[in-house]
Amino acid sequence: MTIAEQLPPGIARGAAGTASFGGVDLAALAQAYGTPLLAFDGELFDQSVAAFRSAFGPQTDISYAAKAFLCIALARRVASRGLTLDVCSLGELRTAQAAAFPADGLRFHGCGKYDAELEAALAAGVGRIVVDNEEELERVECAAARLRRRAPILLRVNTGIEAHTHEMVRTAGESSKFGMLPPRALAAALRAAASGNLHVHGLHSHIGSQIYEPRFFSDALEPLFELAAALHGEGVAVSELVAGGGFAVRYAPDHEAPPSPADLAGRLLAALQTGARSAGVPVPQLGIEPGRALVGEAGLSLYRVLSVKNHGSKRFAIVDGSIADNPRPALYGSYHHALLAGRRSAARERETTVCGRSCEADLLVTCPLAEDLQAGDLLAICTTGAYTYSMASNYNRFAKPPVVLVESGRHHLWVRRERDDETLRYDVDT
Ligand code: LLP
Repeated sequence: MTIAEQLPPGIARGAAGTASFGGVDLAALAQAYGTPLLAFDGELFDQSVAAFRSAFGPQTDISYAAKAFLCIALARRVASRGLTLDVCSLGELRTAQAAAFPADGLRFHGCGKYDAELEAALAAGVGRIVVDNEEELERVECAAARLRRRAPILLRVNTGIEAHTHEMVRTAGESSKFGMLPPRALAAALRAAASGNLHVHGLHSHIGSQIYEPRFFSDALEPLFELAAALHGEGVAVSELVAGGGFAVRYAPDHEAPPSPADLAGRLLAALQTGARSAGVPVPQLGIEPGRALVGEAGLSLYRVLSVKNHGSKRFAIVDGSIADNPRPALYGSYHHALLAGRRSAARERETTVCGRSCEADLLVTCPLAEDLQAGDLLAICTTGAYTYSMASNYNRFAKPPVVLVESGRHHLWVRRERDDETLRYDVDT
């Protein structure tokens, strides 16, 4: 079987040769909603949630990282599946509120929160604010005093664990802007514990994203336990330790399998017990924040080929999407597997560079595709559920695609297509 014939999860090929996703024929989907579009397979999402829940058990706080992809319908589903939600902006907070997400299940993140966000988060009654730095701690305290609330906080620790992943998505170590190095975190936690306006629940670490090696996550708990022991010695209880997100997904059927939720849970839950024992502290509650691992495989971008051209030995297919709706390949050099979606081809395969239509060299992917690929064909670019729609822009004043839920052979719109004239909506024409 060639790589072009291997199908990522959720995708099947029917007798007529067209591919389906979530049981929905992709040619019919393109017909119904136009292209480009992002299909989101609700069942794949539910399966990932269930795998994490059964591996980590009911005691672990599983907080979906909304930055990977959020819309009101997904926020509702996240709540109904018993997860909490990590939000990091007023927009994400408003989306959660529009979905009537239980406020105490919201964790407010971000390394540069401004006062209006802190006040909105406190007024909403979010369950935790994850404080990134000492200046922010002071501002949280002031905001809490203004609102006469006690702010429930976690302190973000930069554990120094430099996981093997793309440097753009590494979030610990001295070259990373995030969190506080342990000595500063200790001072901040002691200061916070002495404040009547703050309630320190615990410590937080997030070391990066798309990490394949589970030991990095458990290694990051060690410095957290050292801090917990020091705080315990000062009479400050650390009842929660959050290990962050960053669990890898597979971007092509022939890539190495990432660690399963069971592998991850095995390591992290064991590290929680041994860490607490050697630190001499009560076992804290574990928190994790998967984003990509819950939604990555659940997304598929569907494009129509606009033209196919040969430049010498190189073949290009230009599709009706671009860097604007699919920025990860250009930003991180990431690979997203592509396949011919609207028909089966018996033709040989040929290395093809799939490009967007923007005024950039926006190469989406280079992979083998049928020699007879032609304008009008449908191409699916897979595993685009995470950081694709959420990072989309209006570059070239392209309108954003719709997001369509596909599930058990049915489909309906989650986010409608942006209209071309909406790309002008902020212009003030004087
Ligand atoms: N928790 C915190 C505090 C985070 O900053 C992030 C992601 C997560 C959890 C979820 O990480 P995940 O499980 O999704 O890896 N745009 C990049 C990824 C940036 C991740 C930012 N923070 C990409 O497309 O690869």
